[in-house]
Parts: sequence; C-alpha cells; structure tokens
Amino acid sequence: MAKIKISYQCQACGYSSPKWLGRCPDCEAWNSFAEEKLKPKNLRSQSASEPVMLDSVEIKDGFRYGTGIDEFDRVLGGGVVPGSVILVGGDPGIGKSTLLLQSMNGIVNKLGSTVLYVSAEESLPQIKIRAGRLGIGCDRIALLFETSLENIFMTVEKMKPAAIVVDSIQTVFTDTLPSASGSVGQIRECSSKLMVYAKKTGIPVFIIGHVTKEGALAGPRLLEHIVDTVLYFEGDRGHSYRILRSVKNRFGSTNEIGVFEMGEHGLIEVINPSALFLSERHGNNGGSAVTSSVEGTRPLLVEVQSLVSPTSFGMPRRTAIGIDLNRVNLLIAVCEKIGGIPLGTMDIFVNVVGGLRIVEPAADLCVLMTIISSLRERSIKEDTIIFGEVGLTGEVRSVANAEIRVKEARKIGFKRVILPQGNRENDFNMSDISITGVRDIHEAIEAVFDHFK
Ligand SMILES: Nc1ncnc2c1ncn2[C@@H]1O[C@H](COP(=O)(O)OP(=O)(O)OP(=O)(O)O)[C@@H](O)[C@H]1O
Ligand SMILES: [Mg+2]
Repeated sequence: MAKIKISYQCQACGYSSPKWLGRCPDCEAWNSFAEEKLKPKNLRSQSASEPVMLDSVEIKDGFRYGTGIDEFDRVLGGGVVPGSVILVGGDPGIGKSTLLLQSMNGIVNKLGSTVLYVSAEESLPQIKIRAGRLGIGCDRIALLFETSLENIFMTVEKMKPAAIVVDSIQTVFTDTLPSASGSVGQIRECSSKLMVYAKKTGIPVFIIGHVTKEGALAGPRLLEHIVDTVLYFEGDRGHSYRILRSVKNRFGSTNEIGVFEMGEHGLIEVINPSALFLSERHGNNGGSAVTSSVEGTRPLLVEVQSLVSPTSFGMPRRTAIGIDLNRVNLLIAVCEKIGGIPLGTMDIFVNVVGGLRIVEPAADLCVLMTIISSLRERSIKEDTIIFGEVGLTGEVRSVANAEIRVKEARKIGFKRVILPQGNRENDFNMSDISITGVRDIHEAIEAVFDHFK
C-alpha cells in the first residue's frame, strides 16, 4: 500500500510545511497550521489536449443565459456563462441557499432542463420546506444529499443537469485526500475538481462557501483564484435587505451589486434601491446629506449622517459606520488644517444610513459637509446631492461616472447637485437640475450652505 505522508498546512492561505509552525511564514497568521495527510501523487498520465487556433474556437449562440432574477444576472455580468464556476460566500443564515434555490428555479423555467442541487448541509425535507415557503414546486430541480464529490460526479454523469449547486464546499470531500472535509486541502482539491469538470462539460457550477468571523471566505484565498466569479452575499442583521456584491468576475464588471429584500416568501428584487435607502429620510436635519455612490455600473443614492458634539473625555471619539474610519480621519484633518475648522475637542460619529457600506472616495465631500453641517448646526437642503473626492490639500477631485450619478439624482427628484469642477466640465444637458462645480472645500462650503446667507 502506498505510504501516506503527513504535511502541515496553513488553514488561512494553504501554505504547506513538513513540520508544525506557530506562525505562517506566508500569510503571517498565528496558530493556523493543521495536520493533513497526503497521498502520493497518482502518476497516471492524462490524455493531452490539442492546441486550437483562436479563430477556430466556437462560441455557441445564446452563450449566456439568465436566471430569471435580473439582479443576480446583472451581478454575474449579464447571465450565467456555461462552464463557469461561481462562488457565493456569505455570513451564516444570510440567505445563500435561498438565493440559489430561487435562481435554480429561474434557470429551470427558462431553459426547461433539469438542474441538480447538491446539499451536504440540510436534509431533503428541510430543502422541501424552504422550497414550499418560496413557492417553488418544480419537478425539474433534482436534490441530492451527498458529501462525496466522486458520488456527486457519478450522479451528474447520469443526469447531465443544466447547472449544479454545491451547498456548501466546506462539507464535501474527495476520496483522493484522506483529510477531513472543510480542511484547506479538501476545499482546494474539491474546488479544482469542480472547476475542471465545469470547463470540460460546460455545466455551470455554483459553489456556496462559508465566511469566517473576519469576513473572508473560509478556506484558502487560493479558492478565489480557482473560480471564475466570487460573489459575496451581505446584509445587516437589523435590516431585511441583502446585497449581492461581485468581488471577482472573469465575465463581467466587479463591484457590481444586486439588491434584494428578504421576506417570508424569499428574496425579492429591489428595482429602485435609491428610493428604498432614502425612504425613511425626514425633515431638514443638520448633519445629514445624500451622496451618490456608484457600485459597478449602478448608481445608488445614500444618506450620510454625522454627529459632532463636544467630547466629555480627554480623547475625542471618532466612529464611522459604513465607511472607512481612516478616510473619515483624513477628512477631519483636512477640515481642520485647510478649512480652518477646529474639531480637536469634538466627538465625531459618521454613519451611512441603512447599513450600507460605501467603498469609493466619491462620498468624501458629502461626509465632510455633513460634519460641518452638524458642527455649525446648519442643515443642508434636502434636495441636494453632494459627491466628489477630497484630496489632502483640500482640493475636490473629479470622480468617475458623474453623469449616471446626476441622472439617478434627477430620477429620484433632487434639484441641486454639488460636484467637482472637473466633472462640471462635461455637458450634462439637463435643465431641470442645478449643477454646481466646486474646486476645493472652501467653494464647496459656500455652495452647500449658501442658502442661509
Ligand atoms: N419565515 C420566514 N420569514 C422571513 N424570513 C425568513 C423566514 N424563514 C427564513 N427566513 C430568512 O432566511 C434566512 C435563512 O436563509 P438560508 O437558509 O438560505 O441562509 P444560508 O445563508 O443558506 O444559511 P446557512 O449559512 O445556514 O446555510 C434567515 O436568516 C431569514 O432571514
Ligand atoms: Mg444554507
């Protein structure tokens, strides 16, 4: 019998070492090594593939197909590409299984063929109960309770489904590795086998992945390199909406988002998320303003709030929710030094309403204006949209996609836009909305608060 070798692998990055280490030399994680048994490589040669000229590669008609859920299709870059491997990660209970069950139902209704839903986590009656709640009563969704990848492949060979869902990658295992399911080796091996299989047969594979406490996909980062598309399903516990975010996509734009609302009957697409995020806005409050953030190709209007109050302790507190705290600290410094507005004895809290997370710097100017608004107790007009990147010298820099931001604001009924002068240079050709370009924060303060003069 072939001798089984033992190796120690970092559970965070997949680095392997012949002996145990306290700290991974590659990713510097502490106490991340676990023992994994390796079987000697099978030296059987595989049938070699032949090179094909680029010109003669054939693309079938209707290359991509929709899942019937427009929000999901958009995040995928316009639909599912045959043979692609799509990894959907997310916190426990966020709705990963629900999303995939609903999209499988959509694929079945669209293509009229059978799909295979492999569940290694939930029993078949549990899935049936969920399907009943979602109103899915389809006879072409085949369920399989199985943890062995080899058995899954056997079923797939027999069935030839239009798509496969593996729920979840942490619970399946391959016989070629003796280590337990969920270990780095198993996750990596299973994903690469699924990837090779998907590419060979053209069947798209959806993999559900769990997320660790730190918010990264459980398993090696390598997993993200293996698959074609990585989607994160996120949401706030206190809110019913969920956001599907694409972080890697070989067939579409990244940072694209889809917005859903989780209800008793499953996930409902939110067609107009800006209206949803602004729905509870009320009054002419100091410290609040609306900015336009572009996620992928889609503009989203979100409310930013700031609260500035004198600190009762020696050290002022700075808290940011939904936006990077470093970015906020930088803006506070610009406000103090360039704007000449002292904030050293003030507690500052910044919040992006609705549990949304803004990652782009286009929200800078809006955050800065809300801080000043709260400090000076001067409200910003409700019908105003503010966006622009703020540099360290107080200049307001132009941002990408200004036109779609302005269009979205007009659609929702905003009347005034404060944007970087660099963006003002384009001709927006809109007469029903007043557009003011600003060069630096002084001009911005003047433009935003001028109605009080
Ligand atoms: N009756 C219901 N009414 C409203 N929402 C519900 C109902 N039942 C379930 N949900 C929602 O569905 C979520 C669970 O969905 P799902 O099982 O798809 O999540 P998951 O991400 O697959 O979880 P896991 O990580 O455990 O696999 C719950 O957190 C809840 O928000
Ligand atoms: Mg699940």
